[in-house]
Amino acid sequence: MIKKKIFFIVLCINGLFASMGDELVKKALDSGLKPIPTGRELEKLTGLDGISKMQIELGKKLYFDPRISSSNLISCNTCHNLGLGGTDNIPAAIGNKWTMNPMLINSPTVYNSVFNSSQFWDGRSAHLKDQAKGPIQSSAEMNANPKIVIEKIISIPEYVIEFKKAYGNNVKIDFDLIADTIATFEKTLVTPSRYDDFLRGNTKALSKDEQEGLNIFIDKGCVACHNDINLGGTMQLLGVVKEYKFANVGGFKGNADGMVKTPTLRNILETMPYFHNGQYWDIKDAIKEMANIQLGDEISDEDSKKIAIFFESLTGKKPDILYPMLPTQTTNTPKPSF
Ligand code: HEC
Ligand code: HEC
Repeated sequence: MIKKKIFFIVLCINGLFASMGDELVKKALDSGLKPIPTGRELEKLTGLDGISKMQIELGKKLYFDPRISSSNLISCNTCHNLGLGGTDNIPAAIGNKWTMNPMLINSPTVYNSVFNSSQFWDGRSAHLKDQAKGPIQSSAEMNANPKIVIEKIISIPEYVIEFKKAYGNNVKIDFDLIADTIATFEKTLVTPSRYDDFLRGNTKALSKDEQEGLNIFIDKGCVACHNDINLGGTMQLLGVVKEYKFANVGGFKGNADGMVKTPTLRNILETMPYFHNGQYWDIKDAIKEMANIQLGDEISDEDSKKIAIFFESLTGKKPDILYPMLPTQTTNTPKPSF
């Protein structure tokens, strides 16, 4: 009899929890959070429909090929390490000749960057293709001259064959196409997680603590800026209520209107240190600073911890990436310069 009663109570609690879960799903969707779509819908959104496997594989090689840089030492993967959440886990990016980014800017993750409506901390690129041309040429990053990048690729017969296979025999290998091909690979770097299952109605996908954290995240108003598929990706004011504590480190002030690209919160527990100049290593401190400067809210240690627990559900499944063998260069290949 007692057993039956306990069983009944457990059932009720479970039922209550499930219906709370359903309510939270609705609340999350109503507040503008969206799951990563699947199948055809995802292909369309990322621009991968009609893209061949050859193009993606070629883009992957270029992404990992350090010979794109003038020194032959720095690849996209140096700063956007796909084994480290798509970042480098250092405060300010370091590139050519051990040069630190002049504004002490932190490398953002490349995972899910396809869902951002703006790229770069100041939003100066809208598309990944535009974006890829920047770091290749930037003196603080790969420091390469586009002409020499093209000469390097054309001097490597296997690359030429692969470009032909990917785009047809008449392909013109120019800087645009190289950037475009790298961007194609980047579009495959999406990382769905349990959180997406939850938003699709599987209320068991998030633990009770994670659901509680999500609820606080919504109630506090973080979703005003961290919304849509990426929980970020749009330009927003930084320091709405108070100035960011480390605003002076590096001197980055956002775009002409003082707006900063809201980073995605997907895989956030892998991409420390935080903020555009990488000043916070502990996610709980980053959350408190955000609440303070963006919402004027002194958030408790407890609430910050709960939001951090919710963030665990945003760590996504990475695509399987086999490190590519890169085609051998020839005596015609331009030599590295330092
Ligand atoms: C030396 C380190 C370094 C290298 C090498 C590098 N990046 Fe970056 N990347 C950065 C930094 C720093 C930023 C932010 C720059 C800014 O906002 O001004 C960035 C921004 C980006 C972004 C924008 C993401 C976002 O959310 O705004 C993408 C995408 C990206 N890089 C892809 C690439 C690709 C592709 C390559 C190779 C062609 C590459 N990066 C090479 C450091 C690097
Ligand atoms: C008014 C818009 C806005 C609101 C509200 C907001 N954020 Fe942010 N968030 C941003 C912007 C913009 C940045 C980038 C700041 C920077 O580094 O310059 C950011 C950065 C972050 C980062 C660091 C990400 C990284 O990769 O470095 C975290 C974590 C974060 N926000 C969490 C939160 C939480 C939690 C809340 C609610 C308590 C919140 N944010 C509220 C706009 C907002």
